[in-house]
Amino acid sequence: MDRSSIRHQARYALTHPDRILPHLRRVARDTWLRMRTHDHVGYYRAVMKSDTARSPEAAVGSKSHKRWMAMGQMQFEYLVEHGLQPGHRMLEIGCGNLRAGHWFIAYLEPGHYYGLDISPDILMAAQDTLTTYKLQDRLPYLSPVRDLRLAFLPDGHFDVVHAHSVFSHSPLEVIDECLAHVGRVLKADGWFDFTFDRTDGREHQVLREDFYYRTETLVAMADRHDLDAVFMTDWEHLPHKQSKIRVTRRC
Ligand SMILES: C[S@@+](CC[C@H](N)C(=O)[O-])C[C@H]1O[C@@H](n2cnc3c(N)ncnc32)[C@H](O)[C@@H]1O
Repeated sequence: MDRSSIRHQARYALTHPDRILPHLRRVARDTWLRMRTHDHVGYYRAVMKSDTARSPEAAVGSKSHKRWMAMGQMQFEYLVEHGLQPGHRMLEIGCGNLRAGHWFIAYLEPGHYYGLDISPDILMAAQDTLTTYKLQDRLPYLSPVRDLRLAFLPDGHFDVVHAHSVFSHSPLEVIDECLAHVGRVLKADGWFDFTFDRTDGREHQVLREDFYYRTETLVAMADRHDLDAVFMTDWEHLPHKQSKIRVTRRC
């Protein structure tokens, strides 16, 4: 399905007339923000500022608090089933307001969680989450970033890097930048899990907010950066629209 095609949009509008007005508002808001920013990261930071002011939970993609909890728990349980241990050091790229992060932080040893995000506004909401869940003594690091070169982080430090619903909002050059640098901060036996919006047809984007990629594109990109990529087939059985890839450093 190509969500950017006129045909898809017309059919969607006919079957969901209640969504037309909110969508037009989003088009107007996004056009305005694009005109006022210079690059994708600046633009998306502005989107997050606007969305977070309304609701941090909605800004990270959850329509209700119940969904926010469920989506975080699902990420956490999957990662524990797939190797995460309390002694691991973890980096979460695009940690948002710690929807999954608060589960990771409670599970990991103090000081072992590091969250990054391009949005200072959502990171302030993340601090509220730490307070709400009484996680102050777990001493997580939370840091704003302007790119994904990870230049300020040490070599070979992290067992696990995790990015959920971040590449689904990223153009290829942002993903390429991340894949070019993530291997340096991973331990030799570490791994990087990320989700993406998968298409089996034409790659496309909607409003520069949502990006759809073919699995082969991302696997080939990882390969160019000496990373081996595996499509996580069992993730597909979970109630979530995105797909997941795990990459590891090539020996
Ligand atoms: C849909 S939210 C998901 C947040 C979190 N991963 C979760 O599952 O709750 C996407 C988050 O990624 C952040 N983000 C988007 N592009 C980013 C980038 N290039 N670098 C770091 N963070 C990014 C956004 O600011 C936002 O907080």
